[in-house]
Amino acid sequence: MSGMLKNNALKGHTIVVTGGGTGLGKSMGTYFLQLGANLVITSRKHEVLEKTATELRELGPGEVLPMACDVRSYEQVEAVITKSIDQFGSIEGLVNNAAGNFISPTERLSSRAFDAVIDIVLKGTTNWTLAMGKNWIKAKTGGTILNIVTTYAWTGSGYVVPSACAKAGVLALTRSLAVEWAKYGIRSNAIAPGPFPTEGAWNRLLPGALAKQFDPATKIPLKRVGEHQELANLAAYLMSPFSAYINGEVVTIDGGEWLQGAGEFNHLEQITPEMWDVLEAMRKPKG
Ligand code: HXC
Ligand code: NAP
Repeated sequence: MSGMLKNNALKGHTIVVTGGGTGLGKSMGTYFLQLGANLVITSRKHEVLEKTATELRELGPGEVLPMACDVRSYEQVEAVITKSIDQFGSIEGLVNNAAGNFISPTERLSSRAFDAVIDIVLKGTTNWTLAMGKNWIKAKTGGTILNIVTTYAWTGSGYVVPSACAKAGVLALTRSLAVEWAKYGIRSNAIAPGPFPTEGAWNRLLPGALAKQFDPATKIPLKRVGEHQELANLAAYLMSPFSAYINGEVVTIDGGEWLQGAGEFNHLEQITPEMWDVLEAMRKPKG
């Protein structure tokens, strides 16, 4: 799987990726950098960010600024914005990617457990969006926001209920601001990925033997999980001026997974060709 956009497609752009030191945030950031963007990566763990920044600097051509920042703290978010603008002059894009999640029957959760996920996913995204939005509106520059949600943002899902509530809120934020802030030249879009293997997600959502027992690939129509570059290609397009007329959209990238469960007769996939022959013979008029 290779990169999709032409060289320097993001040259002159500075893009902040929250949760950019690991997983999908790292993969998206890597591609933004290869396309010429300057990259600001943030998360709670400074040493993880430094390690990723060292790796990414080898790839260039853009520059990388790693900064520890807890998305739950508005002050820390403002500090990253100030430092990034000092270093790069401006920020053009924000990817709200940081998240927290784990599986549990809802009745087993403490209220602190509920808060832990909602505070990272929903409050973290509103903190970054509000701080960046105020900045872009004041500077009259416009900007591009990309929120990483999931397909259960609109279907809901048992056993990850705090995450489902928070991602649904992020989707509402995406669509609301796409309209309200369009007049300031600020676009808001979202990506809803299906399963893309990452250490963070797999450890928390498919711990231990669950990864084998519930292999996600088996319930996806395309019979495979996503490749990181596939997501990075989509994210780079949505962050680039090539998508300038796309605003308020949520693009699903899941191999058809969520529709598999939604279509009334999709379970008929289990019927063999021989059984279809029998069924066909049954419904054809005799004689
Ligand atoms: C039940 C749990 C729990 C678990 C934590 N808690 N893990 N409860 N089951 N597995 C409870 C704790 O007991 C505590 O409540 C409260 O939650 C806060 O826990 P802390 O460990 O203090 O929280 P914190 O340090 O803020 O860590 C946040 C975290 C952690 C979400 C719990 O997992 C984390 O840091 N995650 C970041 C990365 C991540 O989750 N990546 C996956 C994203 S994948 P009490 O009452 O005991 O104090 C994703 C994919 C979606 O979103 C779609 C896939 C298809
Ligand atoms: P990940 O590697 O665990 O990414 C989550 C990131 O968020 C980590 O870098 C983490 O870093 C950061 N983070 C957590 N709490 C934070 C906080 N309070 N402040 C700042 N940063 C924080 O998992 P991932 O799979 O790449 O997930 C990335 C995004 O994709 C998430 O939005 C997730 O919901 C979404 N997604 C993933 C999948 C999938 O299959 N992988 C599917 C659908 C959606 P620190 O711990 O250092 O803070």
